Amino acid sequence: MIEARHLTKRFGPATAVDDVSFHVGRGEVVGFLGPNGAGKSTTMRMVTGFLPPTGGEALVAGYDVAEETLAARAAIGYLPENNPLYEDLRVGEYLEFRAALKGVPRRRRAARVAAVVEMAEVGDVRGRLIGACSKGYRQRIGLADALLSDPPVLLLDEPTVGLDPGQVVHTRALIKSLAADHTVVLSTHILPEVEAICSRALILHRGRLLYDGPVAELRRSLAGGGAVILTLAATAAEGRACLETAPGVAAVEELPPDGGGSRFRVVAAPGADVREALFWACAGARLPILEMAAQSVSLEEAFLSLTTQEELARDAEREVAP
Ligand SMILES: Nc1ncnc2c1ncn2[C@@H]1O[C@H](COP(=O)(O)OP(=O)(O)OP(=O)(O)O)[C@@H](O)[C@H]1O
Ligand SMILES: [Mg+2]
Repeated sequence: MIEARHLTKRFGPATAVDDVSFHVGRGEVVGFLGPNGAGKSTTMRMVTGFLPPTGGEALVAGYDVAEETLAARAAIGYLPENNPLYEDLRVGEYLEFRAALKGVPRRRRAARVAAVVEMAEVGDVRGRLIGACSKGYRQRIGLADALLSDPPVLLLDEPTVGLDPGQVVHTRALIKSLAADHTVVLSTHILPEVEAICSRALILHRGRLLYDGPVAELRRSLAGGGAVILTLAATAAEGRACLETAPGVAAVEELPPDGGGSRFRVVAAPGADVREALFWACAGARLPILEMAAQSVSLEEAFLSLTTQEELARDAEREVAP
C-alpha cells in the first residue's frame, strides 16, 4: 500500500532524510522509531505529498504521490505532528467541514462524523470551541479528522503524544482494531508502544534507515542472548577469571554482593545464549553456581545500542577518511 523508493530530503546543506526505502503492505501496522530529529515527520510528510522530496519517490495505494497527489491523498488519513486546527470552530462543525472537504457525500456526513466522534472519544467536547480544548483533546480531534473519509491508509505522527494514560490505552486499542482493514504507519518515541501495536518496526537515525523488520526480531537481533545475573561461591577475582573464558561472553561486570558469594552480570555477544557455556565453565573451574537468572534486554537498551553502534561506525569512518 505504501512504497517509498530512495526518499531523500535536504534542507540547504543538511540532509534530513537520506535514501530511505521501505514497503508497507495492506493490513500492516508499522512503527516509525527514532530519536528527535531522525527524520520521521519529514518522511511522513513526503509520503503524504505535503513535502516534495529532493530525491526518490513515494507511491500510496498505487498512486505516485508527486504525479497523482490528490488521488494518493484521498487514500490517506494523516495526523500531522503539529495538528493544525481552526481555533474558532466548534469541534462538531470542524469535523463536518473537514468531511465536506474530504468529499464525504452530504447524506453520509452526519453519520460519519458521529462515528469518528465515538471512535476518538471526543463526544464530550463536540460543542466546544477548538481553541478552548486541551492538548489531549486536540490530538483526539486530529485523529477523528484522519479517520473521517475512512481511508485505507493511515499515517499517524505521534498519535499518543499528550494523551492521559487512559486515552493512551484507548488510542492504542483503536489503532489495533483499525489494523484489520487499514494500513497504518505511526511514529513514536515510545518503544513499548511499538511492541504493543506494531508488527514491524522501521528505525530511523539521522535520516538513515537503520532497521526494517519484525518487532520481535528487533529485540532478539539487537539484544542477542541478553545478560545473565550469576552468583558464585567464589571470590570476585576467581569468578571473573572463569566467566571471561566462557564462549559467547562479551563482558563481565561485578555487582555488589547480595548475601553470600560474588555476583556478576554477564553480557552475551549478540545472538549468543551463554547460560550453558557458563555452567560448563564454572563446573570446569569447580566454582559452584548459587544463582543464575537470565535478564532480558529492554527494547530501550536494544534501541540505544543500535543507534550508538551506528554513531561509533560513523566516527570510525570519519577517522579513516578525514
Ligand atoms: N522545514 C525545515 N527546514 C529545515 N530543516 C528542517 C525542516 N523540517 C525538518 N528539518 C530538519 O530535518 C531533520 C529531521 O526532522 P524531523 O522533524 O523529520 O524529525 P523527527 O524524527 O520527526 O523528530 P521528532 O521526534 O523531534 O519529531 C531535523 O534535523 C530538522 O531540524
Ligand atoms: Mg517528528
